[in-house]
Amino acid sequence: MHGMGAISDEDKLDAEEAKKVLRRTATMARPFRKTVFAALAFTAVSTLGVVLGPVILGWAIDNGITPPGDSGVLRNAVIFYMVLTVVAYLAARQQYILINRAGEGFLRSLRIRVFDHIQKQSLAFFDRNKSGVLVARMTSDVESMGELVQFGLLQFVSAILLVGFALVAALLTSWQLTLVGMLVMPVIIGASRKFQRDSNAAYLDVRENIGQNLSTLQEGIAGVRVIQAYAREPEQQRRFRLSNRQLYDSHVHSVRVSTWYFGLVETAGVLATALIVGVGGWLYTNGDVEIGQIITVVLLFAQLFEPVQQLSQLYNTVQSSAAALNKLFGILDTEPDVQDGPNELPANGALVVDAVGFRYPATDAAVLSDVSITVADGERLALVGPTGAGKSTLAKLMARLYDPTDGTITFGGVDLRDATLASLRHRVVVVPQEGFLFGGTIADNVRIARFDATDDDVRAAFDAIGALERFDEFPDGIHTEVRERGSRLSAGERQLVSLARAALVDPAVLVLDEATSNLDPGTEFIVERALDSLMTGRTTIVVAHRLSTIQRADRIGVIDGGRLVELGTHTELVSAGGRYSALADAWAKSQPVPGA
Ligand SMILES: Nc1ncnc2c1ncn2[C@@H]1O[C@H](COP(=O)(O)OP(=O)(O)O)[C@@H](O)[C@H]1O
Ligand SMILES: [Mg+2]
Repeated sequence: MHGMGAISDEDKLDAEEAKKVLRRTATMARPFRKTVFAALAFTAVSTLGVVLGPVILGWAIDNGITPPGDSGVLRNAVIFYMVLTVVAYLAARQQYILINRAGEGFLRSLRIRVFDHIQKQSLAFFDRNKSGVLVARMTSDVESMGELVQFGLLQFVSAILLVGFALVAALLTSWQLTLVGMLVMPVIIGASRKFQRDSNAAYLDVRENIGQNLSTLQEGIAGVRVIQAYAREPEQQRRFRLSNRQLYDSHVHSVRVSTWYFGLVETAGVLATALIVGVGGWLYTNGDVEIGQIITVVLLFAQLFEPVQQLSQLYNTVQSSAAALNKLFGILDTEPDVQDGPNELPANGALVVDAVGFRYPATDAAVLSDVSITVADGERLALVGPTGAGKSTLAKLMARLYDPTDGTITFGGVDLRDATLASLRHRVVVVPQEGFLFGGTIADNVRIARFDATDDDVRAAFDAIGALERFDEFPDGIHTEVRERGSRLSAGERQLVSLARAALVDPAVLVLDEATSNLDPGTEFIVERALDSLMTGRTTIVVAHRLSTIQRADRIGVIDGGRLVELGTHTELVSAGGRYSALADAWAKSQPVPGA
């Protein structure tokens, strides 16, 4: 079954790819290597402390108890044991602090890096990558990288050290008993291999089902109005039950896989103890080992099994982290396709669209074909045409939110592709149909356009579009909080904030995608006035829906099916009797012409 949720697209990597990903992670983590090495040194100390415990115990038994009478040996052993425990504890604590510091520092820099990189991408990137998926990259994938860097590495090193130290200590205590204990190792290794395979499959299955469950849940909530309108609740409930059932089954299955394994390892541990004690007893009667040595080896072997279990679980962590990392790297490797060019755009000039064709990255069909228009310096051009004709797309191309697939767009003779992004964003400003408002005050929202603008600059921008009075009437004036997405402002007021942003930049070319939403008559007037003052003295391209806007344009371009089908003044186009004149007739019949 294939998941549709963002979380479930767990593509497994083969060993070679996983290695590459890990190597790259190591390179990225280089700035933190000193902290990591210090943490690992503390790990070594605390592991050594853990392994020395049984050794001291055996030594105390063989030298302080079985040959009775020497209380000095026991006392020394107890003191040494206590000191060792404290040192091991302090070392373990230090190790956790350091590894967390390194890990969190690494995550912080990674998040910033990915976020910066995403922000640099063109709109085409966001057409290809859904925002939900990008958020998942920034959260769950970054988290799983943190898991790998912090706990993965630490567990790996401490498990390896523990196994190594314990085996060396056991061999030094009694090589015969160590070999006897090792007899169960093939069983454990075989079981671990199988566990890795099974649990990995079970883990992927759980992740997939979580993704399914989430997307069912999300659809059920987001679509609740439609669901209720058509009384589809039972169907939704059935779907949700089903996906919950699958999630439950996969969880139960994954638990079954691991309990089976842990039980087996436990049993193998008991078996090893029995073998060591049995053979140890026989060796003891022959005088080859002492009681304390047997106890030391038994305790050391008991310590061995946990790290072996950890190592096999770690395999899963590494697998899923590598998959997550691979996706993050995929983002980091995406070069922004709207790149900075070398040339400054001139202060003014004509905007020339030359034989432009365009298709969106996600689709095959051409949205624009062979469009050529020259917009003279200071000219006001209105773009009209049916919905889906490509007007908004052409407007976006003119501001280089996308690059054309064919042809070129130049301003003052400079290809937009060769322009510096700084000069481009200064010369050409696009006001979208729905301006996005961020949390913060009205003034903050205008300042999006120019970060260093003072309050006076913001007021001047509002004043320039004749909207200052409107915002001064708010309880805190321009310092009023807009609330989430500007819910406090009306549609018209939000539009005014958008226009003030543009006024703050004071661009040579203004590209407007006129809002179609119905503004209330009071706001409509003030928005229209604001538009008028903003357009004065600038080259303006406006995707127009209102007859009043169209009539005030110098020229009108009619877009249909991605082509420029008519271009001329209102009078020319009306007398030509083509598509525009039909449109104008329809308008004249349906709308009262403002001011007429
Ligand atoms: N981000 C996008 N990705 C893919 N196709 C798009 C995207 N935006 C618009 N389109 C398609 O491009 C065509 C033109 O859209 P648009 O320029 O918005 O038309 P208009 O503004 O004239 O209504 C439509 O068929 C639309 O479905
Ligand atoms: Mg549009």
